[in-house]
Amino acid sequence: MASHYIQTKPSFSRALFKEYTDMTVLMDENTSRHCYPLLRNQLPGHSCLVLPAGELYKNLDTCQMVWQHLTDHQLDRHGIVLVLGGGVLCDLGGFCASTYKRGIAFALVPTTLLAMADASVGGKTGIDFGSYKNHVGTFSEPDAIWAATDFLKTLPAPELRSGFAEIIKHALIADVRLWKAISKKSLHEQNFPQLVRHSVKFKTAITRKDPREKGLRKILNFGHSVGHGMESLGLYAGKPLLHGDAVAAGMVMEAHIAFGKKLLSSRDLEDITTYIIRVFGKVNLPDTDSLIKVMYQDKKNKGNRILMAFPKGIGKACFDQPVSEREIRDAAAYYLKYQT
Ligand SMILES: NC(=O)c1ccc[n+]([C@@H]2O[C@H](COP(=O)([O-])OP(=O)(O)OC[C@H]3O[C@@H](n4cnc5c(N)ncnc54)[C@H](O)[C@@H]3O)[C@@H](O)[C@H]2O)c1
Ligand SMILES: [Zn+2]
Repeated sequence: MASHYIQTKPSFSRALFKEYTDMTVLMDENTSRHCYPLLRNQLPGHSCLVLPAGELYKNLDTCQMVWQHLTDHQLDRHGIVLVLGGGVLCDLGGFCASTYKRGIAFALVPTTLLAMADASVGGKTGIDFGSYKNHVGTFSEPDAIWAATDFLKTLPAPELRSGFAEIIKHALIADVRLWKAISKKSLHEQNFPQLVRHSVKFKTAITRKDPREKGLRKILNFGHSVGHGMESLGLYAGKPLLHGDAVAAGMVMEAHIAFGKKLLSSRDLEDITTYIIRVFGKVNLPDTDSLIKVMYQDKKNKGNRILMAFPKGIGKACFDQPVSEREIRDAAAYYLKYQT
């Protein structure tokens, strides 16, 4: 299991890296400017590779740049890749490291709220394939994770909001007290260091119990069946949605489906919808036929059935629930009509 450090300021001890022969630091054009200066002097000798930022680059072409760099710098199987970035880079960097020479060590230094609270935890790596999200990837644990909340100071507000969606999800599926506490406050009133700690603890516990997503871990997919479908269509159209914005809309629609299945009360549905739309606004929904079509590709499905995870009352969850096209259409109509 990875060692996980949650801190305010990034701080490393060089001794931690002494077992590795060499290091490459992967960053993107934003984290190289805002984050790398905060830690460069603490790292042992290393090479750097700066990649283009954003979901549109979470693909095989970018992986080739990484593998080429590691090859040019002759990183051997005892080297380590240190990933300094958000969820896109954590997923892609972990994927490249876990496949280069059949897998070398990697460490994650998540720099977005989403990556600290979610993407850096649980050992999933991957890239998008065509317009399919996270279609190719591995389960590979990093050697270490350092989440330093000072990095959030330079994070643009929409990106902070995007990470908040995953924290809301964790509360809705596992912690009603947390949901009550966060839903009383606006985005900027939240205590992010505390929320990161809570999310890391929760996600670590779930993924330890079910690392390969055979059962329980599937509850983490609440909001993601619809959310990933929307993201895939956004990618296809060359207009990627922020992951958290898609998941937020996905949670509202999936909460409506859960209400239809008597898993949530009308009061719960109303509370979830009002809060999420107040914080995230409403996104433009793609047309429902395209959404349903792309949802049939979801990795969570079995056979030709769309399966989803839902809260079962706020603070508990269930998974592998079959969902009909009719339920998805009704949920889309509910989201579209909802007025705050
Ligand atoms: N592996 C998992 O379990 C898991 C879980 C959730 C999400 N994800 C993946 O995470 C990705 C989304 O991650 P994300 O929202 O972090 O996106 P991201 O990595 O694209 O980062 C968002 C933007 O913020 C910039 N940035 C990052 N840190 C910064 C900082 N400290 N200051 C200023 N700018 C900064 C980045 O350059 C980028 O432009 C998606 O691809 C999603 O599939 C993976
Ligand atoms: Zn997510």
